[in-house]
Amino acid sequence: MKVIVRDGSYLKGVEGVLIIGSFKNEKLPGWAKALPGGIEELISRTVKEDMFEWDSGKTLSIRGQKNSKVRTVLLVGLGEKSEWNEEKARRAGGISRTSLSSSRHKKASMLIFGSEADPAVAKAQTEGFILSGYKFDKYKTKDDSDDSVSEFTSLELINPQGKAKADLKKSVKNGAIISESVMFTRDLQVEPGNTATPSFLAAKARKIAGSSPKIRVKVFDRAKIRKLKMGALIGVSKGSVEPPKLILLEYRGASARRKPIALIGKGITFDSGGISIKPSAGMEEMKYDMSGAAAVLGVFRALAEIDVRENVVGIIPATENLPGGNALKPGDVLKTYSGKTIEVINTDAEGRLVLADAIAYAVRNYKPSAIVDLATLTGSVVVALGTHATGLISNNRELTKKLIGAGESTGERVWELPLWDEFRDQIKSDVADMKNIGGREGGTITAAALLEKFVGETPWVHLDIAGTAYINKPLPYSPKGPTGVGVRLLMEFLK
Ligand code: BES
Ligand code: MN
Ligand code: ZN
Repeated sequence: MKVIVRDGSYLKGVEGVLIIGSFKNEKLPGWAKALPGGIEELISRTVKEDMFEWDSGKTLSIRGQKNSKVRTVLLVGLGEKSEWNEEKARRAGGISRTSLSSSRHKKASMLIFGSEADPAVAKAQTEGFILSGYKFDKYKTKDDSDDSVSEFTSLELINPQGKAKADLKKSVKNGAIISESVMFTRDLQVEPGNTATPSFLAAKARKIAGSSPKIRVKVFDRAKIRKLKMGALIGVSKGSVEPPKLILLEYRGASARRKPIALIGKGITFDSGGISIKPSAGMEEMKYDMSGAAAVLGVFRALAEIDVRENVVGIIPATENLPGGNALKPGDVLKTYSGKTIEVINTDAEGRLVLADAIAYAVRNYKPSAIVDLATLTGSVVVALGTHATGLISNNRELTKKLIGAGESTGERVWELPLWDEFRDQIKSDVADMKNIGGREGGTITAAALLEKFVGETPWVHLDIAGTAYINKPLPYSPKGPTGVGVRLLMEFLK
């Protein structure tokens, strides 16, 4: 999507689709008088006739008059001014786009919401507009009837009472880049398991690195992973013919002396459960088990275009989890890269195994200042928080606060769960240093308790995105399917 910021003088010549937001119980602002061809009057009249009250989440579409170049005016309710925030702006931007889904126009002009042009609001409404238009139809044979529905290819943000200042432009541009990266992540997530293999993820990582001099990539194949003695990643991959990969991305945004932030994403490209096989109902959703990896790739795609003054490494342990003649079995003991051993009680608790090796690799080889891992790790987190928040478990308060803050401003909410000794006790093994499951109780936390054993002293946050990575009911700026969760959260965190 092409996105441009316009100044107030643009209003008098505006054409096509015009999106206007206003708060509840407030008159249309003074600048509305500058609108061409009696639009202000048309709006006031229709608002009265239709008893439109500018409630949050409500829209009203008005057909432009015959002689006017403005063809559609879409009014968007912003709700109570006292409750206004970035997330409201993002949702309003998203709802605008979905309300216009049958429009034949390619371009939309949207007034910057709120009483003054706040760069963060302009960014948020841009994000909402772009993100709500997500579609994945790559595998649909083209249907002629679909040609009549046009899609927006450009968006204009208008600052009605002032200039298109540099900070406003920059904020909107970053919002557009980040949103396109979220779309990229969604595409990776939803891609079926027969195409989105570990090698496919590695090829995407190579492409991202190739697009920016700030990013380098390394991909380890099965032989190299074995040589490094990553027994856990090798163990999970054993049931599959598809070769595993360990993907490393390095972004240089600060002095080489500065320790990097490590972002680690679970990359199980299909999780059948392995020998501890899952029930067949809903198993197709397990193509999404690489959503953490997809988010890390999305962040690097954004970093290729947006400067962040940090060094960042991305680490993706990628493999399928399948049953097979050579597969990992319950009772097997794996020796991890760190040297610690894990007794495998359930082969379906594979995410923590591959993450254990990836985390230990990060700690030993990059000495990161912080680790954030993202993983569709447990069904338990869906029971606890539904699809409404990502579960967070950490060994560090400051890092936790930063992620909670980023979650609030991006609308990608995170919610902390406690990591007490009692949970650590649940994963004690009789034969190895730990076992890979801790029973039904506190399943999200016992999974994190295993990861904790590999982070050492490094400040660490674990994000369990099993509930937030994909949804079956649409949200204001996320159609049903993959959400791309994590990309916006982590870009805000890095900023
Ligand atoms: N990938 C799953 C977790 C998951 C569940 C993601 C639902 C998305 C939606 C993970 O590998 C898994 O199978 N976890 C098990 C762990 C159990 C065996 C201790 C689970 O949550 O049931
Ligand atoms: Mn599993
Ligand atoms: Zn899994």
